[in-house]
Amino acid sequence: MNILGIESSCDDTCAAIVRDGRAVASSCIASSAAEQNLYGGVVPEIASRRHIEHISQVTRAALDEAGLTLREIDALAVTYAPGLIGAVLVGLNFAKGLAFAAQKPLVPVHHLRGHIAALYLTHPTLQPPFLCLVASGGHSHIVAVQDYTHFQVLGRTVDDAAGEAFDKVSRTLGLGYPGGPAIGKAAASGNPRAYALPTPHVEGAYNVSFSGLKTAVLNLVNQARMQGREVCVPDMAASFQFRITEILAEKLLAAARDTGAKQICLAGGVAANALLRETLTAGAKRLGAQLFLPALSLCGDNAAMVAAQGYYEYRAGHTADLSLNGLATQSIEEG
Ligand code: KG4
Ligand code: ZN
Repeated sequence: MNILGIESSCDDTCAAIVRDGRAVASSCIASSAAEQNLYGGVVPEIASRRHIEHISQVTRAALDEAGLTLREIDALAVTYAPGLIGAVLVGLNFAKGLAFAAQKPLVPVHHLRGHIAALYLTHPTLQPPFLCLVASGGHSHIVAVQDYTHFQVLGRTVDDAAGEAFDKVSRTLGLGYPGGPAIGKAAASGNPRAYALPTPHVEGAYNVSFSGLKTAVLNLVNQARMQGREVCVPDMAASFQFRITEILAEKLLAAARDTGAKQICLAGGVAANALLRETLTAGAKRLGAQLFLPALSLCGDNAAMVAAQGYYEYRAGHTADLSLNGLATQSIEEG
């Protein structure tokens, strides 16, 4: 079964074709991240306008790369929530138009379910149940993936998402957007123990909080400036990266230990972080659990993950009619 996936929930315009939920036939992305960097973060209207400009070409490219015509596509899967609503609506409306014109089933996909499905593309034999940390620019969840379309959130951020914290600290340090890769690069030559950053206290065994950590970095930078000094950027980047990855890894491993999960996974843009991947690899080994990491090319937003999840949603009978609307927020459990 060939599913054409469409994704436009943030600053990447993406189309991809996946066979039977597991094999990527094509995956195309046009990103406006470089342009967004000029403004220090994503400007929603610019994201929407770039999606409008790029979506048809990206979809054409995905069909061509897979060597398929629209007629050979069995269903259209599209991110309908959550995300920047103006951005979501561009991809959603385009997918609805295609589904209408080509008379194909339309499958709504929750963006975070899509991030999790990137694991099925990387590990063809991985099957639920498993425990997954989904860390992106907008969300940080610890999710029990009960089966392909049933999810239970065990923990979440009470304030900033992990990716958002990377982006904000990166901006404070003058490293640009997106913050994750910039911090990772700067941290490579820094000392992770140079600055003692706090581990915020938070209610709920598997919840996380990053707002205090972000503010601690900001305060140290401002204090140094008031004293006529500058913080050492590589050392601060390394100290921040060390603390945030330690918090994320500890929470996921604690949830795995407490629930007895034997398979643990990582997903979302932050899953590309090398230190987080290393820390979890060591932690999973200590716990005797099997760790599954997404391919680096599938951590950030892409439409292959949407098409992969779309396959399982379709098989579960989750299709929509042409009145389908987009949502800025929606729980992964209900989506
Ligand atoms: O999943 P994603 O591509 O988009 C959303 O759904 O939000 O995640 C983007 C987030 C950004 O905040 C970005 O800074 C972060 O993922 N990110 C990283 C890395 N690469 C991207 N964070 C840490 N380390 C990275 N290597
Ligand atoms: Zn995402």
